Amino acid sequence: MPLAVHAQGLSAGVKLPSGERMTILKDATLRVPEGGSAAIAGRSGSGKTTLLTLLGLMGRPDRGDLVLAGRPTAHISDADAAVLRNELIGFVFQSFSLIDSHDVLENVELPYTYGRRCRRRLIRQRALDMLELVGLAGFAHRRVAQLSGGEQQRVAIARALVRRPKIILADEPTGSLDIETGSHVMRILCEAAAAEGSCLIVVTHDPAVAAGLDETWELRDGSLTPPEDRAGQRAEASPVASCAEPQGSDGFLGDPDGTRP
Ligand SMILES: Nc1ncnc2c1ncn2[C@@H]1O[C@H](COP(=O)(O)OP(=O)(O)OP(=O)(O)O)[C@@H](O)[C@H]1O
Ligand SMILES: [Mg+2]
Repeated sequence: MPLAVHAQGLSAGVKLPSGERMTILKDATLRVPEGGSAAIAGRSGSGKTTLLTLLGLMGRPDRGDLVLAGRPTAHISDADAAVLRNELIGFVFQSFSLIDSHDVLENVELPYTYGRRCRRRLIRQRALDMLELVGLAGFAHRRVAQLSGGEQQRVAIARALVRRPKIILADEPTGSLDIETGSHVMRILCEAAAAEGSCLIVVTHDPAVAAGLDETWELRDGSLTPPEDRAGQRAEASPVASCAEPQGSDGFLGDPDGTRP
């Protein structure tokens, strides 16, 4: 199976005010196949968000190679990285990163502001379908600041999925949610990924979420360790939805007439 994400020897660090350089990520190698899923686990401060940011082309490594869906990224310009990011990646941020001055629907439509142009009517329909998928059909014209944390997270997921990304990167998508809502959110992500054949990479502290994905990579102090085989553990997975056992698509992600934006 071709790889959706192939990172090799990624290292990243920051310069501290003292002038000293602090390494955050050391020589990380990660492989996730097309249509596959992976959890990235690790303690707070171990470098999970830093790694996901690099995978999402929102930062550049100090060293290493990153190939996304067969496209090498190491030597591309910032402008080309932005185009590739828009084309390939759906990112769910740890802190949602919604725009308070926009309503829910405008937030979900935002990824269409960049890149390939689409017809206005199709964009609106696709965004409304995404809101329905995440259970927020009646919230289209609400201000995001008026929503609960769980609702904001679902808006962020709708926005990440709206352009049918080949690679979905989610940074602790269930971190601030109760078990039931978290399970619902994971089911949405897993079903969306399965329906589109997308690769799904989820940063999580929650072993139950990790157990629902194909494999778990662990970050310790900036070093990434490859997965153990988790197949045997899935049967005992918690109520959190499993990507390994698709729940069946509700059809919102389909494109029966081939006119999808
Ligand atoms: N711009 C920065 N300047 C200085 N230190 C930074 C910067 N960005 C990240 N760090 C440090 O790098 C380490 C890794 O940060 P990162 O946000 O990747 O951790 P994380 O694993 O996502 O943590 P959490 O689970 O709490 O979200 C932390 O110690 C953090 O303080
Ligand atoms: Mg983080």
